[in-house]
Amino acid sequence: MPGGQGLTALAEWGVVTTFDAETGRMIAANRANWDARAPIHVASAFYGLDGSRPAESWFADYEWDDLGDLRGAELLHLQCHLGTETVAFAARGARATGLDFSGESIARARALAEERGLEIDYVHADVHDARAAVRGEFDIVYTGKGSLCYLPDLDRWAAIVHDLLKPGGSLYLVEFHPLLYALGVVPIDGSEELTLRADYLDGRGPEERDATRTYTDGPALTEATVSYEWRHGLGEVVTALAGAGLRIDRVREDHRLPWPRWSTMRPGPDGWFALPGDAPRIPLFYAVKAVKAVR
Ligand SMILES: C[S@@+](CC[C@H](N)C(=O)[O-])C[C@H]1O[C@@H](n2cnc3c(N)ncnc32)[C@H](O)[C@@H]1O
Repeated sequence: MPGGQGLTALAEWGVVTTFDAETGRMIAANRANWDARAPIHVASAFYGLDGSRPAESWFADYEWDDLGDLRGAELLHLQCHLGTETVAFAARGARATGLDFSGESIARARALAEERGLEIDYVHADVHDARAAVRGEFDIVYTGKGSLCYLPDLDRWAAIVHDLLKPGGSLYLVEFHPLLYALGVVPIDGSEELTLRADYLDGRGPEERDATRTYTDGPALTEATVSYEWRHGLGEVVTALAGAGLRIDRVREDHRLPWPRWSTMRPGPDGWFALPGDAPRIPLFYAVKAVKAVR
């Protein structure tokens, strides 16, 4: 049966009841892929978890303005990976919970929080099971920076986020712009030019990637090299959130990134990277604040 392996793995999780077998197989492949990436990421200079890259450096300045005072806030970080950002929320006084379906990531995130003396509740679950996996409702649900591309159905995800929020609570989504995924470099006249290389919009289904290299430095993956991604245009994201009953308060588009995607990108004073000043100003990153109505 196609997807039999994934089906067995996912049956323990509950996701199998809400996705078809083929999508379930892809989600299971992604989980194995993230388990394989986690130890490489922990040791990487890219994440700098040895202290060489402070957690705050992963945040754009406006994120803190949009999030407001976190002291005492109940904050849920979905798809938290190693807790790179979750620790920053806890350090700012939030009662932070991180959730991820990669057991390897969660184990390492727990160890890092303990090392730093931070109290963070890490939950090992698929985001589609998040409502059942965590107790209570949250003031803030935070997610992004490479998360939405692993989600096959944004309407389903947005409904889950809505159910996780307290009345008056906010989703803060901070993501790589769909234009970033669509652009690639090509050699032109001895230099490199950015050009459209891939879909911006959803519509062609999942993209399969088979790669021994992850996005960080470090050794190659020796197993679980296949992963699947889904494209989501900005309109689709905002429409899914509005459709779930959330009020869109803010959509920001930013020309900067927390790491250099292309060799021509240079760091600014805050360490975030931008294309050269004479390049067209295009969005590479975006943030959405969406609020649940007070009953
Ligand atoms: C690029 S990380 C995003 C977190 C953070 N911004 C970072 O860069 O470390 C993507 C995370 O999504 C998680 N993930 C992917 N699909 C998921 C799912 N269906 N349920 C829960 N976590 C998922 C992966 O395990 C991974 O830890």
